[in-house]
Formats: sequence, C-alpha cells, structure tokens
Amino acid sequence: MSNTISFYINLIDKALKERENKKSPANLYEPITYTLNIGGKRIRPALLMLSNNLFGGKDEAALNSALAIEVFHNFTLLHDDIMDEAPLRRGHPSVYKKWNTNVAILSGDVMLMQAIQLLSKKNHPNLHRTLSIFNTTAIQVCEGQQLDMDFEESSAVSIDDYLKMIELKTAVLLAASLKIGAVISHASSDNAHHIYEFGKNLGIAFQLMDDILDLYGNTEKVGKRIGGDVIVNKKTYLLLKAQELATGKTAKDLDFCLTSKVLDDASKVERVTAIFNTLNIKKLALDEMNLFYNTAISHLDSIDAPAEKKLVFERFAKGLMNRES
Ligand code: IPE
Ligand code: IPE
Ligand code: MG
Ligand code: MG
Ligand code: MG
Repeated sequence: MSNTISFYINLIDKALKERENKKSPANLYEPITYTLNIGGKRIRPALLMLSNNLFGGKDEAALNSALAIEVFHNFTLLHDDIMDEAPLRRGHPSVYKKWNTNVAILSGDVMLMQAIQLLSKKNHPNLHRTLSIFNTTAIQVCEGQQLDMDFEESSAVSIDDYLKMIELKTAVLLAASLKIGAVISHASSDNAHHIYEFGKNLGIAFQLMDDILDLYGNTEKVGKRIGGDVIVNKKTYLLLKAQELATGKTAKDLDFCLTSKVLDDASKVERVTAIFNTLNIKKLALDEMNLFYNTAISHLDSIDAPAEKKLVFERFAKGLMNRES
C-alpha cells in the first residue's frame, strides 16, 4: 500500500543505500555514507512523499526531492554536532568525533550541494518553485542555528524568542518538506498553505519533544548523550520555564548550576534535573508541545482532501509526540 509511512521510509532507505558516492578522497565521502547509513527516522522525506501522494502525485515525481531533503537534514546534523559539541549521533560517534572537525565541515558542505543536485534532477515541472522553497528554508535553518548559538550566551532570552528560534532551526524544514510535496503534485495554494502550517506547528512540537528527550530520554533509544543541552546551557523551553518559575533558593541553585566553573558535567545534569523536577517542568513542556500539536491538527483538518487519506498524517503526528527516539 503506497500511502503508509513505513512504505515510504523503506523506499527512502533503499534509495539512499543505492546512491553511490565517489570513493576518493575517502575522508570526504566516507563520512557521508556513514551518516546516511547509521539510521535516522526519515520523517522529512516520508512527509514529502506522503504529501505528494495526498494530492494525487506519483511517487517517482517526488523521490529525488525527498532524498534531497534527507541529505540536507543530515548535512545540518554534521555541522550541528560540532556546534553543540555532541559526541554521539544515532548511537554512533558523531562525524567530527570519529574523524575531525574539518572533515565534518567539508563533508557537510558536499552534502548540501548533493541535496541541491538531487532537487535539481528534473523529474517534475515545478522545479523552480521547489528550489525556491528549499533555498529560503535552508537560509532560515541557518538563522535558527545562529540564534540557538547566540542564546547559549545570553541571559535575556524569552520563551517567545525560543519558539521563534525552533521554528527556524527545525520546524520550517518539516513544513517545507510537506509544501514541496504539495507543489510537485500541483495542490491548490490553499492546500499548500495548510499543509505548510501543519508541518510548521508539528515541527515546533517535534523540537519541544526533542528538548524533553535530550534530558528525560534514554541514551540507547535517543542515540545522543543525555543532558547535552543542559551541559552547554542551551536555552530550551525546559530551562527558560524553570528560570521563569524558580524563586528563592531554587533560583539561586539554578543560577549556580548555569554559571559554576567547578561543577562537572554529570553533577550539573543531575542538579538541574532535580530542579526541573521540583518545578514540574517536564509536564509543562509536554503541555506546550500539545498546544502546537493541536494547532497542527487544525490545519490538517482544513486541507481539502479525503478524510481517510489525511488519517495517516494524524497517526504519524501522534506517533512523533509519543516517541522515545
Ligand atoms: C534531529 O532530527 C534534529 C532535530 C531537528 C531535532 P531527527 O530527530 O529527525 O533526527 P533523525 O534523522 O531521526 O536521526
Ligand atoms: C537541531 O536541533 C536543529 C538542526 C540540526 C538544524 P538540536 O541541536 O536540538 O538537534 P539534536 O538534538 O542535536 O538532534
Ligand atoms: Mg544538536
Ligand atoms: Mg543544535
Ligand atoms: Mg536536541
């Protein structure tokens, strides 16, 4: 059955495996094959394919664009792990750890260009529009990543600032994946708008869950170092909400954890988690996530397409809100 998520994930995995990279220089190409073969949920290309299918497009017309989005996403991870000093990705050493920072920068650069190459393989008549959506989105992702970095050093970040930052670094790519699927299949502009907004709100909810899992997840399942965000003072919803709610000794403790030069990483994570738990932060973050999830679903409801074809999106979205990895 061609409109199930697992069908598209398998299709994408197979197509990524079949893509031959050049062999030399090995330190340029091996990290690309490594990254694309150590896992990943493939949610963005799957959403693109599903969106194309929802509006009556043929799979062949969308596959290269879906691969492009996944290669682009993986490029962002190579650079993101350098920026976040994250040693583990998908349960394996991140590229900058396994090779080195220069390798991760340059292999990432190649992946960005490969993404554009894939997108430009002319297999559908809307290439100009899809390229334009892709380029705008890629720049927005960089804006989000820069804000994310800036916020680590700033003590004046609001929850609204955070929400705008995650919209840029994460949500617009999910949204653009869905919109590109809609454009390839010649959906109406109303439908393209609603599927974009569905993806944007789902993407914000997705990043809130990513932030929750960063602290409350299980390393084996998440495949990343637990507490990484706390270690680098990442201004996540969890931290900002805690700063807003903490008073007296709790506020002092939290401030000490964020500024101390003597606290080791493990003790910092332990103490910050204890403070978050006192303030019920995980539940508040889940509540915030659900608000964005509900807005996403309201846009899905507004799409003019058969309800039974939209069900797969709702199930998929629900699954992302209950994920462990
Ligand atoms: C990780 O994305 C980066 C974020 C935007 C949170 P995913 O959680 O989709 O990572 P993979 O591709 O499944 O590993
Ligand atoms: C990632 O956000 C956003 C991009 C890669 C563009 P995170 O830094 O939270 O992603 P993870 O947790 O490392 O996967
Ligand atoms: Mg990161
Ligand atoms: Mg990051
Ligand atoms: Mg994260």
